[in-house]
Amino acid sequence: MTFEPADSGPAPLPDRVPLYGPAFAADPASVYELLRRYGPVAPVELAPGIPATLVTSYEHALEVLRDADTFPKDARRWQRSVPSDCPVLPLMQYRPTANLTDGAVHDRLRQAVSESLAQVDVEALRGHVEQSAELLIDRFGAKGAADLRTQYAQTLPLLVFNRLCGVPTALGDRLVAGMSAMMDGGADAENANRDLAQAVAELVALKRREPGADVVSWLMAHPARLNDEEMAHQIVMLLGTVTEPEQNLIINTLRLLLADDRFAGDLSGGSLAVQDALDEILWSDPPIANYGITYPVKDVDFAGVRLPADQPVVVSYAAANTDPSISMGDRTGNRAHLAFSAGDHTCAAKGQARLIASVAIEKLLDRLPDMRPAVPAEELAWRTGWVHRALVELPVVFPPSQPAMPAEPAVAVRDSRFIAAPVPAGSAAPSGPPPGASAAGEPRPFWGPLARRRRGGDS
Ligand code: HEM
Repeated sequence: MTFEPADSGPAPLPDRVPLYGPAFAADPASVYELLRRYGPVAPVELAPGIPATLVTSYEHALEVLRDADTFPKDARRWQRSVPSDCPVLPLMQYRPTANLTDGAVHDRLRQAVSESLAQVDVEALRGHVEQSAELLIDRFGAKGAADLRTQYAQTLPLLVFNRLCGVPTALGDRLVAGMSAMMDGGADAENANRDLAQAVAELVALKRREPGADVVSWLMAHPARLNDEEMAHQIVMLLGTVTEPEQNLIINTLRLLLADDRFAGDLSGGSLAVQDALDEILWSDPPIANYGITYPVKDVDFAGVRLPADQPVVVSYAAANTDPSISMGDRTGNRAHLAFSAGDHTCAAKGQARLIASVAIEKLLDRLPDMRPAVPAEELAWRTGWVHRALVELPVVFPPSQPAMPAEPAVAVRDSRFIAAPVPAGSAAPSGPPPGASAAGEPRPFWGPLARRRRGGDS
């Protein structure tokens, strides 16, 4: 592959820029800035000795995402060229899932997945998120301090996933532990992949025996007639899309709300709402930072560069969103970002993804309106891995708050509350509004001024 740097600049450009390791995780924006000096696409390494091309321009990213014939998703030809212990193989390898297939195979799987997801009732979903949020906040609320990642954002999508998919909690924990280790892309990725496969196979067997009113059972019953292997692969994809990006959307938005003066400063500083903060994160720090991986079947001349056949072309949603050549004016309400991708593989659950994050954040702000960061923003550490943009932790302090729900039973509380009583499509939340919320799901009256300001409610 021949790269002619667009700008030779004072410092020579390296042959390839590594995307793995702590330096990239700590400051991806600087790396994207360096990569832009190569032009719209740049030579990177996804792991030591694993080359790829990263698309950093918004316009070129759209071109790749909208041209599935030139830029297909099937990784199998590439896989044959990498060692079996390649640390990014578990993350990138071909699977018969909606997000990694092309053409008729993709159409069939996507239809099955999106039609099953569409059966989820919006109000029931809102109820699941509110209940999950109340449960988690009750666990740490009285302590006056918490890590919002491990004690809230990480667990909440899992609880919601378990509820939507009818997953027993112990199994759900194993699913997420495996998925998390794979996303981190460390030395343990291969073992994590094996553990994940085992847990998913158990879930498929369970749902074949005992179908319920849940997404996994709806997928199983879909006219596409997915076999066990296809079922297992769609579940892993759904788990990956629900838990990791959702967690990062929640936590990155909370970080912005807590740390940025426009949200947490004095009243005159502005009254941006949670929705605006979500939009800002989806533009500036998208949870899936670099993905949309494609493998041209033949050499392609693109953006002045020859891209070799069968080598990964990765779309940087983060770099494309912050491409200086697109207008950086006020983006309030502007949803033309690529955080949910674009083209045939655009996220199949944008609305649900946004709803989960909004409700999770609003509920936390309702319950702990005087929450403050426990450490300065610049001391927060980021998880390694080039796919996700993910904090290690987000410690906060707040005046202790009383539990909103009845005391949890000492044993197996998560199993009993989040597996039982699946909610049929079209029904309302199982038992009316959660404790502490008004019947209409409106904010509770004891909101503090900080929470009102962050929601842009009435400041
Ligand atoms: C309820 C939670 C979510 C569900 C059920 C979900 C579901 C899906 C599915 C099924 C796909 C594959 C579509 C296809 O290839 O045809 C997908 C793709 C995608 N989703 Fe979501 N998603 C969720 C949350 C999120 C969140 C929070 C984000 C980040 C903001 C996100 C970003 C994406 C992106 C970027 C893709 C394209 C992946 C690629 O590059 O190949 N999703 N999602």
